[in-house]
Amino acid sequence: MMRKLVKSKMAVSVLLYVTVVAVFLIHSLDISLPIDNLWESRVCACRKCLTDGDPWFQQLIGMSPQPFLSKDHSISEDDFKWWKHLQGEKRNFTFYNSTLDELFQVIPPVPGVVGPSPRRCRTCAVVGNSGNLLGSHYGSLIDSHDIVIRMNRGRTEGYEADVGSKTTHRVIYPESATQLGNTTRLVFFPFKMFDLLWLQKIFTPAFKSRIANKDLTMILNPAFMRYVHDVWLEKKGRYPSTGFMTVALSLQICDEVNVFGFGADRDGNWNHYFEKLKNTRLRTGPHPGQQEYQIIQELHNKQKIQFFVPQ
Ligand SMILES: *[C@@H]1O[C@H](CO)[C@@H](O)[C@H](O)[C@H]1NC(C)=O
Ligand SMILES: *[C@@H]1O[C@H](CO)[C@@H](O)[C@H](O)[C@H]1NC(C)=O
Ligand SMILES: *[C@@H]1O[C@H](CO)[C@@H](O)[C@H](O)[C@H]1NC(C)=O
Repeated sequence: MMRKLVKSKMAVSVLLYVTVVAVFLIHSLDISLPIDNLWESRVCACRKCLTDGDPWFQQLIGMSPQPFLSKDHSISEDDFKWWKHLQGEKRNFTFYNSTLDELFQVIPPVPGVVGPSPRRCRTCAVVGNSGNLLGSHYGSLIDSHDIVIRMNRGRTEGYEADVGSKTTHRVIYPESATQLGNTTRLVFFPFKMFDLLWLQKIFTPAFKSRIANKDLTMILNPAFMRYVHDVWLEKKGRYPSTGFMTVALSLQICDEVNVFGFGADRDGNWNHYFEKLKNTRLRTGPHPGQQEYQIIQELHNKQKIQFFVPQ
């Protein structure tokens, strides 16, 4: 009896030792995974990683193309055609290609994304512009994340207590542009060729106002937009909203995702926290707002993200 106990105790300590050595090795080597294998073996240092467990979720986000464009990665002709039809663009794939080639001589040829690592826990706050943020006191909670992604003109000055003041990433397209400062990453959402040409233009010396730091610029892959539309939204609506695509994007670049400022305010209005509400109720345009909201709610229920709605 005693010997058996000693034996099993020994077995336990050997096992423990092997585990400790293995963990140490993994940590000291800081193995960075090749991008293609990202989803099979992703690990992180958070209490819980996004891809833990659930094969369905792993599969869903594993189907994603590279979320950002890079110099050496072109989209397929099929994806280009999908993108081209969003806004009735006339110019062809060759023109798209050469525009990007030129752009990548100005902005970094590979996007500045911090990859997954067993030593890292990349926490992200995705901050929408909903009026429901007013009075929420979420400011310091939002600022406590490594990555704080804001959208369009969602400003922080004057609203710090409710929305925070840190902005590591800002999603914009030309019509929603605002000045980003030198340290915020510009996450550019191109919806048409004009947008890419605009991005090119703002980094020319002749362009008067300084919108962003070109060294911190990255471009959302049109194939990623299509993936969100086809896979997440099952092709509902014409194309996904900026907010929804940003949530989907965060699932690719973060280990823990917390979502703030989405949905209607307490009175059911879809207004922005930084604008006085006009009389009309804002609609969600070409985007399937209801589906998007439900999917975010579902991700919350399945504990993939945390969706913060002030009471
Ligand atoms: C693409 O458009 C350019 C003009 O922008 C034209 O010169 C070229 O022939 C077109 N290429 C194809 C393959 O249609
Ligand atoms: C676009 O560029 C990619 C490489 O970046 C190339 O493989 C592809 O053939 C190009 N397509 C056109 C139509 O220029
Ligand atoms: C902005 O950042 C870049 C490096 O990305 C640096 O070269 C440049 O001097 C900075 N500009 C200002 C105005 O701080």
